Amino acid sequence: MELLSSWCYDGSLPESYVMPPERRPGKLIVPFGKSIPVIDLECHDRNETIQQIMKAGEEYGFFQVINHGVSVDLMDETMNVAEEFHAMPGLDKERECSKDPNGSCKLYTSSYAYPREDFHYWRDVVTHPCHPLEECIQFWPEKPTRYRKVVAAYLVELRKLSCKILELICEGLGLSTGYLSSHLIELPKIMINHYPPCPEPSLTLGLSKHRDPSIITILLQGRIQGLQVFKDGQWIGVEPLPHAFVVNIGYLLQIISNGKLEGAEHRVVTNSRDARTTISYFVYPSDQSLIEPAKALVNACNPAIHKAFKFVDFFTAFVLKPHNTARPHTLNC
Ligand code: OGA
Ligand code: NI
Repeated sequence: MELLSSWCYDGSLPESYVMPPERRPGKLIVPFGKSIPVIDLECHDRNETIQQIMKAGEEYGFFQVINHGVSVDLMDETMNVAEEFHAMPGLDKERECSKDPNGSCKLYTSSYAYPREDFHYWRDVVTHPCHPLEECIQFWPEKPTRYRKVVAAYLVELRKLSCKILELICEGLGLSTGYLSSHLIELPKIMINHYPPCPEPSLTLGLSKHRDPSIITILLQGRIQGLQVFKDGQWIGVEPLPHAFVVNIGYLLQIISNGKLEGAEHRVVTNSRDARTTISYFVYPSDQSLIEPAKALVNACNPAIHKAFKFVDFFTAFVLKPHNTARPHTLNC
């Protein structure tokens, strides 16, 4: 498997990247969902914030947050390091991602299921665990030289931000403030996506339609557009807002909330001009965590939408399959 960024600048588009007609992105320029809510986390009325998050979570499964407490400098610095990482020669990237004999740091192209895919996606990825920091940092890349320092600082902030958002969601759902904590958020992962410019954006995808297999995902999408959300049978773009984070409800939270919140489907389109780098922070439970609708949300009028399952079983069964084959839930890996 050769990384996309090692060959794509020669301008070619191999057949395996051409989506079949029904999967092509169609219109590349879709309206920005002005309606995808932008929520000010420093709003002084906590109840108001909770109501906004709940409404967005019910209607879109997506929202953006501003005044979130993460410093602009740290966000910029992390994005710079992410871009510098993907700009390194392929062999350097491979070396930097093979420090753990157990392979916890992964570098791949398209999706993790690349060898079994019928079609490939126009992206390269590096992903690794981030908690507890002291245990996993030794396996992270050491190049660019600031990688560990900057990414560690970023992840400390993202953990705080994710807890803040999850507390608000718990309150909004009427669950105890700490319901979405401890083992349910124990093994977050960072994923640095890189979508180089693509010669034929109308034939390709950066990522196909999927739901994230997470509790929530917090995305730093930088300046370049490409993320789209499927809402009421239409694609709407998520506008890149400087220094905002895009938050989406994952499939696990859809189940825990017993369907009250929507794990929204989304995809990534490419463009022919600009490389796009994004940083996803997935809030994942520990492997043995039991995922099920919160008891407080199940009653005669709202029967459980799903049986209980162990996170690791779900992750293995769904996520390790290629996401372009037919299956009930299309998830990203
Ligand atoms: C993801 C994802 C969106 C983006 O990583 O699951 O949907 O814009 N990323 O990169
Ligand atoms: Ni996603």
